[in-house]
Amino acid sequence: MLQKIKNIINKKNKSKIICLTAYSKNVAEAIDPYTDIILIGDSLGSVLYNYTTTKKVTLHSMIEHSKSARQGIKNSLMVVDMPYRTYNNKSEALRNAKKIIKQTKCDAVKLEGGSSISKIIEHLVKNKIAVMGHLGILPQSAKGKFKFKGKEPRERKKILNDAKLLQKKGVFSIVLECVEKTLSKEITSVLKIPTIGIGSSQHCDGQVLVIDDLIGLNETKIKFVKKFGSNKKDIREAAYKFKKEVLSKKYPAKKHSY
Ligand code: KIV
Repeated sequence: MLQKIKNIINKKNKSKIICLTAYSKNVAEAIDPYTDIILIGDSLGSVLYNYTTTKKVTLHSMIEHSKSARQGIKNSLMVVDMPYRTYNNKSEALRNAKKIIKQTKCDAVKLEGGSSISKIIEHLVKNKIAVMGHLGILPQSAKGKFKFKGKEPRERKKILNDAKLLQKKGVFSIVLECVEKTLSKEITSVLKIPTIGIGSSQHCDGQVLVIDDLIGLNETKIKFVKKFGSNKKDIREAAYKFKKEVLSKKYPAKKHSY
């Protein structure tokens, strides 16, 4: 197992794991000193392309954005989402995971789902592919509005059993997306591998956020998102100043000319 992955697992019960998404070199470079994991998430579909569903994200665009992000990642573990319908069966999953790893030089891939894809995950792990799991809200298969998971006893049992099963099949950590807090606490305490929460409370071993939400570029009102920056405002202000200086002929000055 890759040392970087061992280091992530070893953080469990010692130090929280910091994970953010990135889809390009400059952003990856800026966050890399502060993250343990950088995820090239298929959330890029909604964040960058304004798709209403991640189902439209292609393998090609995941690979291209990951290649860009790779250039900015020195220390963090790099994980790439396998997009919708690229892991329908064992051989397809292995072929595409190998392609992603070869072309992007990422350390691991992430797949969404529990028991329905456990054999596929097992196959990847047996073939030395490092896999991160993803339970709770599964955007690639969700229908309708996203609702938090773990309200009903049956659903709680299924998510808990799925988490145990994924651990058994060899994933090195599991993203829990919008899982009710007492359930994410239970899963986190039962598993030996770390849980990375998004909208799943402080009980998880780590936290992940979509970078554009964090920096205030994406103006979202999702309950679990905290805006740690105000980039949209910064961009507006910069564009306004640029316009003002071009109109008043202050920019470009002599020093900006050849
Ligand atoms: O696609 C993504 O960015 C993700 C995170 C929200 C965990 O899967």
